[in-house]
Amino acid sequence: MSHDWTELYRPDNLADVVGNPKAVSDIRSWADSWDGSKPTKRALVLIGPPGVGKTSAALALAKERGWGVVEMNSSDQRTGDIIRQVALRGSYSNTFSDAGDYLSTTEGGRKVIILDEADSLFGREDKGAVPAIVELIKNTRQPVILIVNDFYGLSKKSASIKSQTLQVKFFRPRVQQIAALISSIARDQGIEYEDKAMSMIAEKANGDLRAAVRDLQSMASGKDVLRVEDVQHISHRNVEADMYDVMGAVLRGKDPEKALQAMVAVAETPDMVLLWLDENLPYDYRDPGDLVRGYGKLSRADVFMGRVRRRQYYRFWAYARELMSFGLNDSLQGRPAANDRFRFPQYLMKMSRSKATRTMKNDLAAKIGEHCHTSIYRARHEILPYMSWMMRNNIDLASSLAKSMELDAEELAFLLDESVDSDTVKAALSNVPAVIEDRPAAKVQTKEMPKPQKNLFDF
Ligand SMILES: Nc1ncnc2c1ncn2[C@@H]1O[C@H](COP(=O)(O)OP(=O)(O)O)[C@@H](O)[C@H]1O
Ligand SMILES: [Mg+2]
Repeated sequence: MSHDWTELYRPDNLADVVGNPKAVSDIRSWADSWDGSKPTKRALVLIGPPGVGKTSAALALAKERGWGVVEMNSSDQRTGDIIRQVALRGSYSNTFSDAGDYLSTTEGGRKVIILDEADSLFGREDKGAVPAIVELIKNTRQPVILIVNDFYGLSKKSASIKSQTLQVKFFRPRVQQIAALISSIARDQGIEYEDKAMSMIAEKANGDLRAAVRDLQSMASGKDVLRVEDVQHISHRNVEADMYDVMGAVLRGKDPEKALQAMVAVAETPDMVLLWLDENLPYDYRDPGDLVRGYGKLSRADVFMGRVRRRQYYRFWAYARELMSFGLNDSLQGRPAANDRFRFPQYLMKMSRSKATRTMKNDLAAKIGEHCHTSIYRARHEILPYMSWMMRNNIDLASSLAKSMELDAEELAFLLDESVDSDTVKAALSNVPAVIEDRPAAKVQTKEMPKPQKNLFDF
């Protein structure tokens, strides 16, 4: 029982990967394309939500083909420089052993370079990471697999990540498939079970295989038999599902006490509940009077939330919650109009989509602010838009500003509204090769991490 089942029960070959037959066959054909000469798409991108088997599939592929694995999955060490130093050097020419020593191609076989959780590479401090990946994809002699939750964010950074990779989507496996997997694990562990208990765990996992395996392990610990009553108190991981309960109780229920209880029970702050209510209220409340009263209550709740933020006085959360539960319940005089699924707040989706952009803007504003001797706020709101416009219309200006402000390729690409590897960006940077080639960060990075290779090969 001491072993982590999520590691112990990873599939050994692609045939054992649960669900996603299309993805599996695409992965196989891609791997076949490495048999002869260099394939046209040297990198594969596995896309899908957490826990659906992306990492497992990549590892299973390597295992079944007898390929070595260079896994870079510790996000804090994957700076552009490290990707270059380790992966590129090895992948361009000879290959290297698991210990990080370089071997000649005759000694070492194929090695697949796996960049897991590559989402964390964009919108972070080190802007060299994406260009380094682009370079890797273009020049590698070894197969490369990128694994991401959201391809959109990464592909936006560079057109060639999109055009030079083969993208494979993973979907959430069905409840029966998950139940079958955890049942077979239970059997392997010599644990008896009620089928219903297994499907309850599988259902709760909401397509996340890893969550299901983890839940099974924690609930089965110290037991010979797993019954329905053992799994009933399965912790509510799925906040979204909980939030649906809150919405139902507030917008469609008749008992304000219940609405309040659901709100207190949900593992989210009232700010989040407010966003959900704000999104869903207009679909449920169709009578204008109801809407006016409803939004009146929500805006009062928002005032208290603002006071909580400013004064750090969390007692006001109680007022906000009451306004949102009793207040809303009291606002509805007609009947709720809708009875379809509740919606996920648009605001949150937009914010998560724009996260990389916002980080970039803030970083740029700091540089511009320093350069123009003004505040970051002014730089962001009053200078950045005009600077960007001027640079787009005057490439020489772009080039000289890039030099004097020490902009890197990504920052310049953002200001010019181009992709990192576009000709415009290259042209503008060609006057200042030092910016990309010899970024001083390279030295700092090396100093901070005396043995980067060791850390990257720990698998
Ligand atoms: N046959 C199987 N197919 C896929 N996943 C499996 C299988 N058996 C067990 N698992 C477990 O499911 C989890 C899948 O997670 P992982 O591959 O890490 O997903 P992702 O990389 O998509 O987040 C792993 O913990 C793995 O042990
Ligand atoms: Mg993974």
